[in-house]
Amino acid sequence: MNPIEQLARRQLVVVTGKGGVGKTVVSATIGRALAAAGRRTLIVEVDPRENLHQMMGTPPSGGDILEAEPRLWVQNLKPRQVLDQVVRDQLKLELLARRVLDSPVYQQFATGAPGLKELAILGHAYRLLHGMGGPGAPEVETVILDAPATGHGVTLLAAPALVTDVITNGPFSRMAGDLATLIADPERCGIVVVTQAEEMPVEEALELRTALRDRVRREPELLVVNGLYPPEPPPSTGPENELVSLWRRRRKLNDRELARLKESWPGPRIELPQLPLDRGLALLGTLGRCFAESARNF
Ligand SMILES: Nc1ncnc2c1ncn2[C@@H]1O[C@H](COP(=O)(O)OP(=O)(O)OP(=O)(O)O)[C@@H](O)[C@H]1O
Ligand SMILES: [Mg+2]
Repeated sequence: MNPIEQLARRQLVVVTGKGGVGKTVVSATIGRALAAAGRRTLIVEVDPRENLHQMMGTPPSGGDILEAEPRLWVQNLKPRQVLDQVVRDQLKLELLARRVLDSPVYQQFATGAPGLKELAILGHAYRLLHGMGGPGAPEVETVILDAPATGHGVTLLAAPALVTDVITNGPFSRMAGDLATLIADPERCGIVVVTQAEEMPVEEALELRTALRDRVRREPELLVVNGLYPPEPPPSTGPENELVSLWRRRRKLNDRELARLKESWPGPRIELPQLPLDRGLALLGTLGRCFAESARNF
């Protein structure tokens, strides 16, 4: 089975990696591939910049779920909003909910409690997957989480187990328990690591793998190496243009880091080129074809 077919069987796909390596383009590329394969997919970005919407050419959402393509939805999630909604759902009386939401204790709890923001993000995905997204929410089969860069998403994936250790009863604890079970199950939850074939991103990707093993007891399902320079041009006889020599140096570096990954990263790997295109649907279209081609070689 190729990686797209495999990911299309998951309920939750968490895309993680160092800042700026291409997590959002890879989330969008995988989302489009799954939707094209018939899977009802939602991509959730947790980043106030709304990069995903700009990439997909959808208008800024203000946090709503927007249909971007057939079977594909996008959402920019504000974790605090989700958490407030959980309180509202629990306390049906709006006035009472308002008083809790405004209370200093809740304010402190919502901003400070470890794992709570992460639980809100995952809980949101969980509710949508179980048809509990509220009125107007689409029925989705897979949620792709474009995880926040900080802490590499390990914190996100480790949060439910952490919360179940601290809170032992009530609705939060039940949800955390269900989420911890979902995340532990490689049949239902896939982890995609994105990197670039450069020294620091590769170093961080390898550290991320170790951290996932130690703190989440999980292996990543797929590695995506993004932004590869095109293969070296044939050597020229005359004096070399500066740009060509830069290209040659970058590609040499890419080759060295790819060799390091081949040695130390077991498991499937997709390679994507650096394209001379701005963020947008044209970039996603070409990356989608490269992804599918690379996936076919498995
Ligand atoms: N293969 C590629 N070819 C050309 N441009 C790319 C490629 N991959 C990413 N980019 C561009 O690089 C920028 C960073 O990519 P992206 O936003 O996906 O990274 P990110 O890991 O999500 O970053 P952040 O950690 O800030 O969220 C974007 O402007 C995107 O359009
Ligand atoms: Mg991003």
